[in-house]
Amino acid sequence: MKIFNTAEDMRSASRLARRGGKRLGFVPTMGALHEGHLSLVRAARARCDAVAVSIFVNPTQFAPNEDFTSYPRKFERDCELLEKEGVELLFAPPAAEIYPDGAATWVTVDALANRLCGKSRPGHFRGVATVVAKLFHIVEPDVALFGQKDAAQAAIIGRMIRDLKFPIELVVCPIVRESDGLAMSSRNAYLTPQERRQALTLYRALLEIQSLFAAGERDPAKLIHRGKKIFSAEPQVRLDYLEIVDPETLEFVTQIRETALVAIAAFLGTTRLIDNILIKGNP
Ligand code: PAJ
Repeated sequence: MKIFNTAEDMRSASRLARRGGKRLGFVPTMGALHEGHLSLVRAARARCDAVAVSIFVNPTQFAPNEDFTSYPRKFERDCELLEKEGVELLFAPPAAEIYPDGAATWVTVDALANRLCGKSRPGHFRGVATVVAKLFHIVEPDVALFGQKDAAQAAIIGRMIRDLKFPIELVVCPIVRESDGLAMSSRNAYLTPQERRQALTLYRALLEIQSLFAAGERDPAKLIHRGKKIFSAEPQVRLDYLEIVDPETLEFVTQIRETALVAIAAFLGTTRLIDNILIKGNP
């Protein structure tokens, strides 16, 4: 695996990898890799001739009061994992390479920026869209792979690809979970043993909503109410939001006809976790 720190070196290597019509798959990450990330790498491998990964803890998607400085950084271990997966190219730039002095250009996917996590984390999706646009320009992949775990992020990147005419195919991969159902996340490492147990509340609420839905309930308000009841039984878990929205526009749905996204964010102590499921109504 070759590791690049500058945009110029990374771009030359990806252009070389794509010569002769070869397809390059790209998985952007912030590192502290787990099976969720590796599932994206494997999906890239299955679809493409070569795989590029980026590891960059993007400062602009963290608010000043958030965990940018404490975010887990495990570069050596991440490299070993990516080597084992047969990744060809790794882009690991310093912050100044992505945000040179005086950088003043932002990408905002306006209609979606303030929904779900964007509501409680103002500016977060502007940081995400901006860094991903920069990474796309540097890596120039044919295919970009994102996780359904960050459903709003996937919707925003899909809209940005469409609006800015990036010649990139977006692949969204399913959520990888621990054996008890907790969605894998680099932030799970912050949890105390007690919080780790309580963290299952998110998935339990999603399953509750899913089973009520399977029994025929189509009213989002009733589904949300039932999900929130699961949280009221766990007062130490602080719900940030529980919403049922259209998976592409992220707008509230009033009646579930086609596919809807049930999305949750909640705090365990100071750790904020997210999870979601898609429920499919009858057309
Ligand atoms: P990060 O949180 O490191 O996640 C990188 C990718 O892995 C994202 O597409 C995310 O959805 C996916 N992922 C994380 N946990 C997953 C799980 N349990 N199952 C499936 N996929 C999972 O998301 C980011 O980084 C950043 O916002 C980034 C896109 C890199 C921009 O900075």
